[in-house]
Amino acid sequence: MIKYFLSCILTCFLFSCKQAEKTSTRGLISKQAMVVSARAEASKIGSDILKKGGNAFDAMCATQLALAVAYPYAGNIGGGGFMVYRKANGDIGSIDFREKAPLAATKDMYLNENGDVIPEKSTLGAMAVGVPGTVAGIFEVHEKLGSLPIKDIINPSIALAYNGVTVTKKQEETIKKYRPLFSKVNKEAIPLDKAWKENDVIKYPALAKTLERISQNGKDEFYKGKTSKILAKFIQENGGILTEKDLAGYEAKWREPIVFTYDDLKIISIAPPSSGGIALAQIMKMLEPFHLDEYGHHSLKTIQAITEAERRAYADRSFYLGDPDFIKIPVETLIKEDYLSGRMADFSFEKATLSSDVSHGNIQIIESNETTHYSIIDQFGNAIACTTTINGAYGSKLYCAELGFFLNNEMDDFSSKPGVPNMFGLIGAEANSILPEKRMLSSMTPTIVEKNNKLFMTLGTPGGSTIITSVMQTILNVHEFDMTMQEAVDAPRFHHQWLPDEIRMEPNLFDRNLIKQLENLGYSINEKDAPVIGKVDGILVLDDNTYEGGADYRGDDTAVGF
Ligand code: GLY
Repeated sequence: MIKYFLSCILTCFLFSCKQAEKTSTRGLISKQAMVVSARAEASKIGSDILKKGGNAFDAMCATQLALAVAYPYAGNIGGGGFMVYRKANGDIGSIDFREKAPLAATKDMYLNENGDVIPEKSTLGAMAVGVPGTVAGIFEVHEKLGSLPIKDIINPSIALAYNGVTVTKKQEETIKKYRPLFSKVNKEAIPLDKAWKENDVIKYPALAKTLERISQNGKDEFYKGKTSKILAKFIQENGGILTEKDLAGYEAKWREPIVFTYDDLKIISIAPPSSGGIALAQIMKMLEPFHLDEYGHHSLKTIQAITEAERRAYADRSFYLGDPDFIKIPVETLIKEDYLSGRMADFSFEKATLSSDVSHGNIQIIESNETTHYSIIDQFGNAIACTTTINGAYGSKLYCAELGFFLNNEMDDFSSKPGVPNMFGLIGAEANSILPEKRMLSSMTPTIVEKNNKLFMTLGTPGGSTIITSVMQTILNVHEFDMTMQEAVDAPRFHHQWLPDEIRMEPNLFDRNLIKQLENLGYSINEKDAPVIGKVDGILVLDDNTYEGGADYRGDDTAVGF
């Protein structure tokens, strides 16, 4: 605990004044309802929908669309995502609105004649675009679980797009960073490709008009109407393969969540085609026999145990997981206690296990760190956790000016070259190879936690392959180390993913002596490649049934409630 407080002090010192101004260790407290997302505008729009009497599912749709306007870095209608829910009556479920490969996709579409991966083909521009699922996801959720008219839900985002969004300091920096790629990919000027400065206001009239048409004509506007025609033509004119038929054939899918226990917690997370729920279950079940609370937060033994569980889970992830509509995944076995205790049988606190001694697979995972997450609890007690993405920052960087949004580069989440590792790691197992209409493997981990059969927490994060371990650490911070939601979100994070065989740590936030001890045991520490690990947004139900928001200081994330 002492180490945790020391690192908190250091965190406050090193990061923004927003953080330094914090006096309380609790995040925002609200009595009835709360929305936590990557932008204040989106959290407010979601919260206002709740105030109007809407439920968490209405607020999900509104927040998703508001993020598409206010946070084009990852918020979207040109991408996809996953949502897990728990209704006030305890019913649980989840929806997959993940992108899928176009009909014309082929296994080797990103390889040259020598069989080598063509740089940037799966990450930049029209060939990187998977069939977007977000609009289908919103309408599916609204139809099954929403309560307000869809127009009331979409209108605030239309107004936001017309009136404009104020640029934050962090946004100024990301726009500056990515401008060279905007002009490299796009034939015409795009709204974000300017020297925008903090407090400038960016308006998105084209996106407002697209949202107006969606509001009037429903889901079909995006998948079969004028918008779909403009979109397919635009992607093809830019060299892509996505067609009107691809859009017309897209469907969001309801999936059974992955459910497991950890001590007295019941954890409800997402099933394939995200690896999130299975990998989270594997890591937490491997950790359950250890006494992390006694070892202490960020103690040597805790970091070792977590690292070794992560190493083993990520080895399995690479080999076994993909789209369940195309491959058979041994879900039951992978999260069974005896299988997982066997996986940890060769672990000793005396020295690091080598990843080369851990099967399965021979594949590195390198995923982009973007994506975004929002958590909502409504005044009726319904909760959702939703993670959504266009994959990279501003997706493929391809922006349809006529429609007003960025297209995803989700095709890069497939294994471009199954079974053969390369130094860049943009490969995976056969289970995640490209096929027409297949969904690419994800790490998104929207998660809801119950305690004593009651709602306890809803959370998630962006962060590519670090999503799973960030969600896991945040749950452990609350459950094992008695942190508040905000402390649990703020605490420094680390990550091991089997390959590369190293512990990534947020720089300068971990005790130097601890790092030395880990190195002496054979662990390789990397503080260079992860300036930020995850941006967790969560809500904790407190003993008095009020809600505490945890909004990550690493972004512009904000909790709004009432
Ligand atoms: N594109 C990030 C993910 O799906 O995990």
